[in-house]
Amino acid sequence: MTAPAPALPGDLEGGLRRLRLGAMRRLAPELLVTAKTQRWSPEEFLRTLVEAEIASRDESNARERLKAAGFPVTKTTDEFDLAASSVKPATFDYLRSLEWIAARENVCLVGPAGTGKSHLLVALGHAAIDAGRRVRYFTAAELVETLYRGLADNSVGRVIENILRADLILIDEIGFAPLDPTGAQLFFRLVAGAYERRSLGIGSHWPFEDWGRFIPEHATAVSLLDRLLHHAVVVATDGDSYRMKEARATERSTPKKKP
Ligand SMILES: Nc1ncnc2c1ncn2[C@@H]1O[C@H](COP(=O)(O)OP(=O)(O)OP(=O)(O)O)[C@@H](O)[C@H]1O
Ligand SMILES: [Mg+2]
Repeated sequence: MTAPAPALPGDLEGGLRRLRLGAMRRLAPELLVTAKTQRWSPEEFLRTLVEAEIASRDESNARERLKAAGFPVTKTTDEFDLAASSVKPATFDYLRSLEWIAARENVCLVGPAGTGKSHLLVALGHAAIDAGRRVRYFTAAELVETLYRGLADNSVGRVIENILRADLILIDEIGFAPLDPTGAQLFFRLVAGAYERRSLGIGSHWPFEDWGRFIPEHATAVSLLDRLLHHAVVVATDGDSYRMKEARATERSTPKKKP
């Protein structure tokens, strides 16, 4: 067994602590021994420490961003079965490239229940976080509730700006519940604020021509869709519900109990 590496001298330990270089502080004692025995060059030693600190910061930043995103579930693009969906491979590749976020384009997923809208939104959000982006996920109901709270204490402008600090804002389940006129106005303010500045990813089972069913003012619905769709990738997720397919498959693979 090798002896444990000697602790760092107190002033070095204290200095690294004060500078919040935690990974360097943890690794340095061991690395000093390795560097001496393996005759590393000073550059090599420094580089190893710096790279370890950067990797540790990147990881903890990604963890923070993931927490801030507020995803309801964990889904990845790798788990998405493209063959079982109506999404075209070229579209899927483009979405996965995340180029649309750099271009501040929106992604609009429209289709019936269980066709992968939420899966794709969350998976793209995860991919964006891995790529260093800031993401926020809301259902439309949560979003409107958040904006309503801002209205109550006169901070709605700040609430919107705060949401728009994310590079990608995901708004799922649009149209599950009808919006009242104030809710629709608040939703419009967010979409208008994001227009050509941030990417929105939205999920709805209502085709756009039916958005008047849950947005009370025709003019608001038109102006909102105008901004949403100007620079957008629109993806129709058609077909049978994946949930139902899975439920049927489970039913088949579960042995029937003898009566
Ligand atoms: N192509 C797919 N590959 C793998 N899993 C899928 C696929 N499509 C859907 N699923 C899975 O099926 C379930 C339902 O999908 P999802 O929640 O994305 O549906 P949805 O379109 O958002 O439906 P709803 O309109 O009811 O919210 C999830 O567990 C999801 O991971
Ligand atoms: Mg959904």
